Amino acid sequence: MGLKCAVNVKEGKGAGKKEKMIKTNNIYLSDCVSFMKRMQGDCVDLTITSPPYDNLRNYNGYHFQFEEIAKQLFRITKNGGIVIWVIGDKINNGDRTLTSFKQALHFQKVGFNVHDVMIYKKKNTPFMRSNAYTNCYEFMFVFSKGKPKTFNPILTETKRQGREKLVVNKRADGINRKVWGILKEEKTKTNIWEYAVGLHGSTSDKIAFKHPAVFPEKLAEDHILSWTNEGDLVFDPMCGSGTTCKMAKLHNRRYIGIDISEEYCKIAQERLKVAGIQKKLLH
Ligand SMILES: C[S@@+](CC[C@H](N)C(=O)[O-])C[C@H]1O[C@@H](n2cnc3c(N)ncnc32)[C@H](O)[C@@H]1O
Repeated sequence: MGLKCAVNVKEGKGAGKKEKMIKTNNIYLSDCVSFMKRMQGDCVDLTITSPPYDNLRNYNGYHFQFEEIAKQLFRITKNGGIVIWVIGDKINNGDRTLTSFKQALHFQKVGFNVHDVMIYKKKNTPFMRSNAYTNCYEFMFVFSKGKPKTFNPILTETKRQGREKLVVNKRADGINRKVWGILKEEKTKTNIWEYAVGLHGSTSDKIAFKHPAVFPEKLAEDHILSWTNEGDLVFDPMCGSGTTCKMAKLHNRRYIGIDISEEYCKIAQERLKVAGIQKKLLH
């Protein structure tokens, strides 16, 4: 299955604009902005991505056009579709950049709703500061294009279960009325999600760690299950080692992953190959 895509043909007989298909279930080697410009509008159900924030790591020195990325993401997201933007802040001489918030405000400016601000809490924390508490989280901004069209809430066991006398309403005289009721066994998870990171935390795929910033497979999986259904299109414009794509594939969603680095695209392909998927790198 593919997506319609406009391509500029600059030379030769058929010079001009042509339409071609972008195949889903592939990793593409490209700058994400130029790739998204080729994609048709309103076609992506869910984007899960983590940008190279504040040049914290030098991903082979590639340029990052944030504002254009936000604009294109809005254009290609379906009505009711979601973008999960996973980001932390760098600390410059004791001063947090707050790039995360600046970017969230910009997503609002281009038309997204800030549907939720979730926390990705790390169970194990590799970086320490001597004069502040150890940072153990990143943000997961949940941007929606209009009202989310899909929400399959992940449930968690309640702490207190069984029979209890519950307050049901106030009587006219202002006194609470109590009746026997059954406490719920499950409730919707909170918006702080906790994951172990690193090898055997984020993933057990050793190959993934040739990339410097792999996020947890379970994080991608939890968002995919929450915001999409089988057959939906999941997109990662900066897919790194391919975590989002791998989890989309495993849950019978279609996927497109893009990275500007050939080295990282090959890592992603290698991970996906284990699940028996893509054979050669597309451009
Ligand atoms: C934080 S990493 C993503 C890691 C990924 N979530 C994973 O689990 O492996 C950010 C990625 O963005 C890629 N990148 C940076 N600029 C890009 C651009 N303009 N277009 C596409 N990818 C880009 C980098 O090569 C890097 O792999």
